[in-house]
Amino acid sequence: MSFSKQTDILVIGSGIAGCAAALAAARNDASVMIVTKATEPSDASTDWAQGGIAVTGNNPESFREDIIEASDGEAHPEAVDALVDNARGVVDDMLIETLEIPFDGAAPKASLDAYDRGREAAHSERRILHVNTTTGEHILRPFLAHLQSHDDVEFVDNAMALELLTHEGRVHGTSVLRDDSVTSIFAGATILATGGVGACYETSTNPEGATGDGIAMAALAGARIADMQYVQFHPTAYPGDEPFLVSEAVRGEGAVLRNATGDRFMPDIHPDAELAPRDIVARSVAAERNRTGEVRLDVAPVDPNFDRAFPGLTDRCNDRDIDLDAGIPVAPAEHYLCGGIAVNTDGKTTLDRLYAAGECARTGVHGANRLASTSLLEGLVWGRAAGRKASQVGIDDITSIETTSPLDRDPALPASFVDDKYRRLRNTMETAVGIERTNTGLSEARSTLRRLKGEVDAYTRTRVSQPLYELRNATICGLLITRAANDAPSAGCHQIVDTETTESTVGETIADD
Ligand code: SIN
Repeated sequence: MSFSKQTDILVIGSGIAGCAAALAAARNDASVMIVTKATEPSDASTDWAQGGIAVTGNNPESFREDIIEASDGEAHPEAVDALVDNARGVVDDMLIETLEIPFDGAAPKASLDAYDRGREAAHSERRILHVNTTTGEHILRPFLAHLQSHDDVEFVDNAMALELLTHEGRVHGTSVLRDDSVTSIFAGATILATGGVGACYETSTNPEGATGDGIAMAALAGARIADMQYVQFHPTAYPGDEPFLVSEAVRGEGAVLRNATGDRFMPDIHPDAELAPRDIVARSVAAERNRTGEVRLDVAPVDPNFDRAFPGLTDRCNDRDIDLDAGIPVAPAEHYLCGGIAVNTDGKTTLDRLYAAGECARTGVHGANRLASTSLLEGLVWGRAAGRKASQVGIDDITSIETTSPLDRDPALPASFVDDKYRRLRNTMETAVGIERTNTGLSEARSTLRRLKGEVDAYTRTRVSQPLYELRNATICGLLITRAANDAPSAGCHQIVDTETTESTVGETIADD
């Protein structure tokens, strides 16, 4: 299948942020191309989102305060204002009016306040719109269908963006690998919406393709990357075969955490107990598993008809023969990157004509720890802002520049190459750059990852394949996370548990490693 080589707006990624950016740009009469690795909606993290989408209620001030409190005081006030002030408008416009998402509690296209609001940790009030606990797929699938039938939007799926095309400090699009050939796509403006970095860790709630592609490409092109040390671990993932996320909404409805001896431990740790900020609950679950051997989520205090309240989760538990009466075994797992490509409230990066939105972007709204159910909202708010802004500045100025595409000159990679390198990357990240970190461990991890990056780079100089470039991107992100963690004092989900300091590397670029 052939596709255009030029577009006003190029969006890379097809989760909620990419979709919102594409819709906003198309509404401004821009031609839009979405390049995505996805072949199924479930290849995007959005499709996996359970809890829902937090929306400002009657008290915007309390929403602001909850975000800042959860962020360990590190959230940027102007970003928090942008999120809170745009929440109702963007949800009403895109999700309720345009897509008619069937949120629980009222008919489609009802007034926003008519829908049921759920509660999750660190929210002082009920403000989360949901479709049972499968909210993400109920949003993403209609969104994709809407865009697929839009005259101004072209989808290029099963395609991987490799490198940003840059010339004299401006981004002009990207090279794309599809059907074993590399093509340059030129754009007036480029919007990265490529999601998170779950592939860097042994256990993650992300889909497999979360290899940090946009962050790595932006870093290699010289964009500012920030706050990479803030990797959020979700406290309650099922740790057995075929792991899955147990939504915080279950704790929001009363479920409690018990250790191997059946005792609740969160009330001794935080006044909000199981509804404390996520980083605190995650560390406590990890510590209690180490101390007593296991932690279970006791769902008995929830609605006696748990299966009616949480049908998707009940199915997952049944599929794995989990006895709900005994509680669901849980452990922390990598969940969300709060840092990423630094952007302003328009989604603008530090590079000309380059924007970013969604998990790959560091908007500043999450500070050191993200408040539950704000990621879909952030994707919508920043996706829409980036699409609007990019289509104002990017159209009518598309430059084709001479580029050299990487060529497959060497024999195929040894079969085990990618798997072996991932094993080393994930083992290093899980051991030294996980829920608690030491400066000594981070320094050693940094050396290991530098060597790994060198080994991978040696292959990407002469070979092109999707698994190889994904590995390159994940390795770069692992190194960026480790380096940032090595430099930064503890806050939120970045916790250093020894005191030895190491040489500062603030201000270095990825080329320095
Ligand atoms: C969850 O349902 O617990 C995840 C929600 C989120 O990550 O915001």
